[in-house]
Amino acid sequence: MKTYVVTGGAGFIGSNYIHYMFKKYGKEGAIKIINVDKLTYAGNLENLKGLEDCPYYSFVKADICDKDAITKIFEENDIDRVVHFAAESHVDRSIKDPEVFVRTNVLGTANMLNCAKAAWEQADGTYPEGKKFLHVSTDEVYGSLPDDDNAFFYETTKYDPHSPYSASKAGSDMLVKAYMDTYKFPANITNCSNNYGPFQFPEKLIPLIINNALQGKKLPVYGDGKNVRDWLYVEDHAKAIDMVQEKGRLFETYNVGGHNEKQNIQIIEIILETLQEMLSDDDPRKAHVSRDLITYVEDRKGHDRRYAIAPDKIKSEIGWEPETMFKEGIKLTIKWFFENEEWMKNVTSGDYQKYYDDMYSNK
Ligand code: NAD
Ligand code: TYD
Repeated sequence: MKTYVVTGGAGFIGSNYIHYMFKKYGKEGAIKIINVDKLTYAGNLENLKGLEDCPYYSFVKADICDKDAITKIFEENDIDRVVHFAAESHVDRSIKDPEVFVRTNVLGTANMLNCAKAAWEQADGTYPEGKKFLHVSTDEVYGSLPDDDNAFFYETTKYDPHSPYSASKAGSDMLVKAYMDTYKFPANITNCSNNYGPFQFPEKLIPLIINNALQGKKLPVYGDGKNVRDWLYVEDHAKAIDMVQEKGRLFETYNVGGHNEKQNIQIIEIILETLQEMLSDDDPRKAHVSRDLITYVEDRKGHDRRYAIAPDKIKSEIGWEPETMFKEGIKLTIKWFFENEEWMKNVTSGDYQKYYDDMYSNK
């Protein structure tokens, strides 16, 4: 049995990864997962529904910056793998309040590395076979690509982060690289493009647009709407992470991307068309869903123009490729939101409503 610590497993990608792993390896003891999450506004245990009774899944509420709490987890369990998702993840929030991004993303990652190193390092400075730490990062560390260009982000592309979010993720990546170089600490880094799918918090573009369109609320488009993101269905990302840990070369970075570059305005139009297709004629929400809701608003500060990943290395070395085409992935995502209205109601009440009102009040 392999024992995993998954940090941030109550968030969007972390929870999808945990479901993917139990689907792939079963719930009979081939793997055991300890989900470590502080449950910030973005963490939601509802995302793990269905695993409560699984004897090989457990949850520990802890802050990744808390040395005692993380050390205790390593002392009480023989951990084979760490998959480190926990982070503050939203660019707009990082522009308003950068400090918590530095704390969680940089200091939290440093603490995870220190605790894993302390638990795993042998007297001669080597590490037992099979101990592996995977740091989940973003393509945003590479900065911004120009419009209409065939340029892509490669693993060798120079880091050039612009937002406090991407700068803090770049800092965390550098720490992982330093541990690999200095201590031969057994790790990998994955830099992935924008994800979408079930359980994504509706502060991010795709769930925000789905939720607003269904309620007949404005669809806020930053700037000219022509910024490009490379969208990947979240389950494909979960699969990539598992394949990198199982088949990747230690100490390597792998870029993960969807080969699916689209302008924001195109994404919004696809969502509107797909909602029109999927809603039945007698559904009162169908009348809301219209291009008239599209509202151009003030641009994000320092808004990166274009992201595009070249996933050549992960394909040639490991055999990973994106499997879910956008047309299919967006249908799966919308279907999930239709079937989980309660989830959306729960996460958009309270604090989120306040954030939304502040964020979009003068837009
Ligand atoms: P998310 O915001 O949905 O989830 C983050 C999780 O981390 C939440 O459950 C939250 O409670 C937890 N967390 C935050 N601070 C914590 C702390 N101090 N201690 C313990 N837990 C804490 O984020 P996500 O979109 O699932 O992203 C997960 C990871 O993937 C992040 O590292 C992010 O940088 C990276 N990533 C995200 C995307 C994307 O498109 N969302 C793309 C590439 C990489
Ligand atoms: P987002 O989902 O926040 O991801 P990221 O900033 O990490 O790429 O935003 C995706 C793109 O959509 C980005 O170019 C900003 C844009 N955007 C809007 O136009 N309107 C919105 O309300 C949001 C949240 C994002």
